[in-house]
Amino acid sequence: EIKNLEEIFDQKIARDEKIEPKDWMPEKYRQTHIRQMSQHAHSEIVGMLPEGNWISRAPSLRRKVALLAKVQDEAGHGLYLYSATETLGVSREELYEQLHSGKAKYSSIFNYPTVTWADIGAIGWLVDGAAIINQVPLCNTSFGPYARAMVRVCKEESFHQRQGYEIMLTLSKGTKAQKEMAQDALNRWWWPSLMMFGPTDDKSTHTAQSMKWKLKRKTNDELRQQFIDQTVPQAEILGLSIPDKDLKWNEERKSYDFGEINWDEFWQVVKGHGPCNRERLQTRVNAWENGAWVRDAAMAYAEKNAERKIK
Ligand code: ACO
Repeated sequence: EIKNLEEIFDQKIARDEKIEPKDWMPEKYRQTHIRQMSQHAHSEIVGMLPEGNWISRAPSLRRKVALLAKVQDEAGHGLYLYSATETLGVSREELYEQLHSGKAKYSSIFNYPTVTWADIGAIGWLVDGAAIINQVPLCNTSFGPYARAMVRVCKEESFHQRQGYEIMLTLSKGTKAQKEMAQDALNRWWWPSLMMFGPTDDKSTHTAQSMKWKLKRKTNDELRQQFIDQTVPQAEILGLSIPDKDLKWNEERKSYDFGEINWDEFWQVVKGHGPCNRERLQTRVNAWENGAWVRDAAMAYAEKNAERKIK
């Protein structure tokens, strides 16, 4: 019977039909979705922290409102993604436990510090720009709840990207000191942004299988190249230079060639040794522990209400 179910599943994938939570699916399909979707959810939630750092110090009310809205959107993205992951039969508590114990991964990019206001611009422009390139193809991923969550997430990401680019544009047209601050932020965020797409295809554990299952629709290297090709002209408009001496237009490939990524740095950050890994996790754990009384109060209230109804 499994054979039969597997055939039905394979045919659905081949026809680009969505797999829904109650459909039969191979156990490994379920597991790899829990892995990728929960890592994605954790990234959204941890991703609030580097930017949250600047809400109280945004340079104007307008900037503050936009940043606040963006950080709130990220909380929303995390919640859709946790809910979508729960449809695969894993509980929210278990997912949180994996994050808080340091077992679960989240995107390497959020382990870097935000030291100046220009970092908020660079994050919106580069990090959210990379997120859009990575996530637009996921609107077409094979698992229904993930694909549907991505549609709204991508719309909101494009607002995030624009708010970041606008900050960079303002700074790069500003005083000499402001332009230098924008260049410094680009210098620090460029390479970590390229690392967001994950290891090269030949070193990527999951890409081949995830492409077959149409969980991933483009490979890490394809997405990284697309990001570079799209972002270089944007840097030119800003009048800023990309910190890569090997970056060069390749007429034959109609794409940019680029320098070697520091993969040692990437793996160090992924393994928990980046500049802010400890601080990020500790902040999440504290938030969870300090919120215990709210959860307890909500439970006590629900119990009282249920009792009242029985009487
Ligand atoms: N940061 C941390 N870990 C990473 C990163 C990264 N930037 N890239 C890859 N890894 C991890 C993978 O999770 C995997 O670890 P695991 O086997 O323990 O799960 C390992 O490195 C090998 O990588 P791949 O085999 O290439 O993993 P995968 O096929 O899952 O591809 C990718 C990685 C591209 C990030 C994919 O999971 C994806 O597209 N995820 C959805 C998008 C997402 O999570 N974005 C988060 C940042 S965007 C934002 O939140 C604003």
